[in-house]
Amino acid sequence: MSGFEFDMVVRGGTLATAAEVFEADIGIRDGAIAALGRNLPRGAEEVSAKGMIVTPGGLDPHCHIEELGQDGTAQEESFASGSAAALAGGTTSFICFLPQWKGHSLADSAPGYAARAEQSRADYSFHQIITDPTPEVLQKEVPALVARGIRSLKVFLTYDPLRLTDAEFLDVLATARRLGAFVTVHCENFDAIGWRIGALLKAGLTDPLQHAWSRPPVVEREATHRAIALAELVDQPIQVFHVSCEEAAAEIARGRARGLKVWGETCPQYLTLSHEDLTGPDFAGAKAVCSPALREKAENARVWRRIQDGTLDIVSSDHCGFSFATAKRAAGSSSYGTGAAVQRPDGMPAFNAIPNGVPGIETRLPVLFSEGVSKGRIDLPTFVRLSSANAARLFGLGGRKGSLAPGADADLVLWDPDRETTIAQERLHHAIDYTPWEGFAVKGWPAVTLRRGAVAVREGEVLAPPGTGRFLPRGPYDLAKPTGRVPDGFDAAAVTWA
Ligand code: URP
Ligand code: ZN
Ligand code: ZN
Repeated sequence: MSGFEFDMVVRGGTLATAAEVFEADIGIRDGAIAALGRNLPRGAEEVSAKGMIVTPGGLDPHCHIEELGQDGTAQEESFASGSAAALAGGTTSFICFLPQWKGHSLADSAPGYAARAEQSRADYSFHQIITDPTPEVLQKEVPALVARGIRSLKVFLTYDPLRLTDAEFLDVLATARRLGAFVTVHCENFDAIGWRIGALLKAGLTDPLQHAWSRPPVVEREATHRAIALAELVDQPIQVFHVSCEEAAAEIARGRARGLKVWGETCPQYLTLSHEDLTGPDFAGAKAVCSPALREKAENARVWRRIQDGTLDIVSSDHCGFSFATAKRAAGSSSYGTGAAVQRPDGMPAFNAIPNGVPGIETRLPVLFSEGVSKGRIDLPTFVRLSSANAARLFGLGGRKGSLAPGADADLVLWDPDRETTIAQERLHHAIDYTPWEGFAVKGWPAVTLRRGAVAVREGEVLAPPGTGRFLPRGPYDLAKPTGRVPDGFDAAAVTWA
């Protein structure tokens, strides 16, 4: 017994929650927020938040860490490095992906993955990727996962061999509905992309920029429309991952206006980067190859507008762990590439063999704070909703994460709102050899990050050791429940799976 009412008091900050902004101290006991108020009694430890904005720690609900592809491709980001980067960027918990290899059970895919996650310094949960929804997987393995608190499934409508057919997607939706699980979807039309890749390669067009030409907004819009329609058929809530353009966002808005439980996330790359980043000397455009692809510059403002009108209510990183060195060597075998390698005269791979994805777990919140709050596009409560609170609600972590209320985990970020700096690879903590935001100017910086009441990062120095993050099991929650409306009153999902 220390004689102090609180283990720590974070004193004198301006607190921003999902709803409001106010001045208060935060009293922390046993890793949780115990009290908010002015002039709280001294704690055993004191952290000054004078001049700082204090937000809940970020929750990044979409990042790829240490994934092992079926073809042996390993993402270079480890749980120790990825979580150090997360904490340094103000993210105290994340949700990453348990892989399923085609033709394999869930148990046989990427063995040991969940055990490796125990090296995380930040708290974590998993989405389960489904690439092969056999009856065994859906009727035995997925229910067992949900019972362990892994309550969200991830499906791809593109990528070979990850993608599902529409019929397979319906089976996954029906299973999720039966179990009270949530479904997230990568929406792009696989056949249309393959067809355009074929035409581009035949025309000798192989540069990184042609990655964007191979998958223009219409292929994303079509698949988003289809995913929402199929989810409506089954009456299953879904979230559309990484929305890159107005056309796809408009499909989500139309679904919501019809009363569907459909949500959309976007990522900093779709708010700040564009076709220009896919060009440059020395194959530099490969650093910005992600899917959906970056769009023309004018699209950034349209995606911001969909944040402002609430259609897109989560900003995740979609952090993906491939280095530039790896991208240049790509031989068309990456899980997140789109086809066989074509040799170019300069020895670099054609666009379709570059592994997809950009690293952003550390830069997600500084870029969002700077471009959003500092530039006046969003207010602080909106920043909190986009960076943690909405993801906590959507994925069943409400009350524990994304909140400054008593009882919530004391995950806090102390933002210096006036600090101006530029993003530089040499100061980042991830294991990837570049950042697509190199030289990007930001105003506002996470000076101190607390994870469950302990200082995890101070001024860029990561203090939380590997293995101190905790797995976050998730129980049943309201947002994952169906609306109760099935077409014509006939519940096909119940017949199929009863
Ligand atoms: O390009 C991307 N987004 N890579 C990561 C895999 C995915 O599609 O989420
Ligand atoms: Zn995706
Ligand atoms: Zn992703």
